Order: sequence, then C-alpha cells, then structure tokens
Amino acid sequence: MFWLIFISIIIIFSFGIGAFIGAPWVPAFEQDFDELLTKTKVGKGTEFIDLGCGNGKVLEAAAKRGAIVTGYEINPVLWLVSWWRVRSYPNASVWIGNMWGVHLDHYDVVFLFLIHHHMPRMARKLSHSLKPNARVISYVYEFPGIKPSHKTRNSFLYQAKAFGTIDTKVLPKKNSGLQKTKSKHTK
Ligand SMILES: C[S@@+](CC[C@H](N)C(=O)[O-])C[C@H]1O[C@@H](n2cnc3c(N)ncnc32)[C@H](O)[C@@H]1O
Repeated sequence: MFWLIFISIIIIFSFGIGAFIGAPWVPAFEQDFDELLTKTKVGKGTEFIDLGCGNGKVLEAAAKRGAIVTGYEINPVLWLVSWWRVRSYPNASVWIGNMWGVHLDHYDVVFLFLIHHHMPRMARKLSHSLKPNARVISYVYEFPGIKPSHKTRNSFLYQAKAFGTIDTKVLPKKNSGLQKTKSKHTK
C-alpha cells in the first residue's frame, strides 16, 4: 500500500511539474509529423531539438529521417518513455531537464508544443539564441506578433530571422495583449 501511494505521488508530481513550468503533456498528432518535418527540411544531419519531448514520437520521426535529434523533458516518467523509444538510434539523445536553460545556438530546427501563456517568454529566448538559418515549429500555438513563414493544419513555422526583428521589450510578459491565436488541434 505504501509503495502504491508513493508511486502515485511521484507520477502526479512528475506530470504536475511539466504543466506548471512549461506545458502539460498532450502529444502532437503523428499524422502531422511528415508535413512539419518536410516543410522545415529535416533530413540527414539536421540538428533537431524538441523542447519538452513528451513521449518522444516527434524525436523518433526526425531520427528516422537521419536527423541528429535531442530531446529535453522535465517529467521523469516521460523522459524514460522518450529515452526508451529512441534508444536504438545512434543519432538521438534525450535529457532530463528544464528546457528554459537549454542553449539553442547549434540547432537547425527547434520543435515546441507549449501553451499560450509561455509563448512570449519563449519568443524572447529564441530572439537571442537561434542560429541564423534555424527554423522553428510551434505546434498549435502562434507566437504573438511574429509572422510565421508557413501555417500547417496544427502548427506555425518560423524562420530565425523573424525572431531577430522582434522588439522583445514590447512582447507581453503575461497573458495581457496576447492574440488569441490557438489553432484548432484537429485530427
Ligand atoms: C504539450 S507536451 C508536447 C510533447 C511533445 N513535444 C509532442 O509534441 O508530442 C509538452 C511537454 O513539455 C514538457 N515540459 C513542460 N515544461 C517543461 C520544461 N520546463 N522543460 C522540459 N520539458 C517540459 C511536458 O512534460 C510535456 O511532456
């Protein structure tokens, strides 16, 4: 009984912390992966990162194309699932840790599936940490005030230069002023 309660607390805490400091776990739809990865030219040798990699399915899809994939996940349970999923790919690594502290300056493609109130903070991070030709895939949520280069059914694609031109001082710090830009997360 003690162990059951103990394990339940660990699981609840693991899922709670992700929801609190980033986004709760909701997996991206697998049927979207091909379009996203093709549009952002993910292929052999592409340095690809998923910030908050959840169950690792996006990482696996990119690794299958020969990309060098990195995942960060704050939830130890999901980190383990991700790590297990991509364990056979020599070009894949999955780290347990907080995405907000990750250096992004050598990645070609940054994938993220956050939540609307963290988009301004992420835009500020990207504005000073992307390499010049990097591409950003934001699943479901649009960055406020930043023009995507493409829109797909469930995501917004950006070029690094779009973040270089934003005035980070005017980006809203909280929800205020955020556009209601959530796309329909459609199957
Ligand atoms: C909406 S899910 C997306 C999962 C995966 N990227 C996908 O698209 O299927 C967000 C994920 O980010 C993780 N997460 C939230 N905050 C985080 C943080 N600060 N650092 C690392 N991972 C975080 C959550 O645990 C969750 O698995």
